[in-house]
Amino acid sequence: MKGIILAGGKGTRLHPLTRHTNKHLLPVGREPMIYNPVKNLVACGVDEILVVTSSLHMGEIVACLGSGAEFGADFTYKVQEEARGIADALRLGRRFAGDEPVFVLLGDNIFERPLTHFVENFRSAQGERGARVMLVKVGNPSAFGVAALDERKVVEIQEKPENPKSDYAVVGAYLYDDRVWGIIDGLSPSSRGEYEITDVNNAYIARGELEYDFVQGIWMDTGTFESYHRANQMLFERDASSIES
Ligand code: DAU
Repeated sequence: MKGIILAGGKGTRLHPLTRHTNKHLLPVGREPMIYNPVKNLVACGVDEILVVTSSLHMGEIVACLGSGAEFGADFTYKVQEEARGIADALRLGRRFAGDEPVFVLLGDNIFERPLTHFVENFRSAQGERGARVMLVKVGNPSAFGVAALDERKVVEIQEKPENPKSDYAVVGAYLYDDRVWGIIDGLSPSSRGEYEITDVNNAYIARGELEYDFVQGIWMDTGTFESYHRANQMLFERDASSIES
């Protein structure tokens, strides 16, 4: 299994903090934001990692992360020329992944705990076939991809719906088999002009091959000032208590 961290995009919701700096390099707790997905992948045993970002910020991302040796990982880097959506950024991972499954993390999603149960379930329940997503109950589902569930399955995911069908947000952690590349090839841009990861997930739902887990521990999307502030505080307190104890 290969890891892919998507760290492109414009970060406009965090201007002026991100006017000059890539969002994923902003501090969260005691470390740059992107350390959280890197360490999460490594904790899950995924040490071959592709990092995707814009040409504007590639230099500083490489300066921050280096070869990967410090993390026990091996990094590859790819440039996304234009911020044309999460699925467009993921498309750049095709050659890197070959026929292996991929564990994709959005660089601005912060998890309190490693996602080992998620990867183990993908292996044991699905034999690394199909797709797996993670859900969490939120108070503001309209800000996310939202999963409509029946007793057993996700029946549909809607991207930032005005009238969400549930309180379950789909977080930025995805497991896919190698058919994801064909699915991305068949996508068209959404009404906001982006290649949507939600369309990828809905394609797996249509095949009856999308499973899910719930997030264990705290999860945060750091896309807004409020959520960035809370993530900062949460990781600072977590790491401070582990240093003191
Ligand atoms: O945080 C979870 C949510 O992330 C999901 O619930 C949504 O379904 C999903 O679409 C996404 O929504 P956001 O509006 O938060 O996505 P955003 O545009 O902020 O991008 C998330 C990450 O993906 C960000 O860390 C940078 C990366 N990205 C984004 C775009 C648009 C890229 O690498 N390239 C891109 O072109």
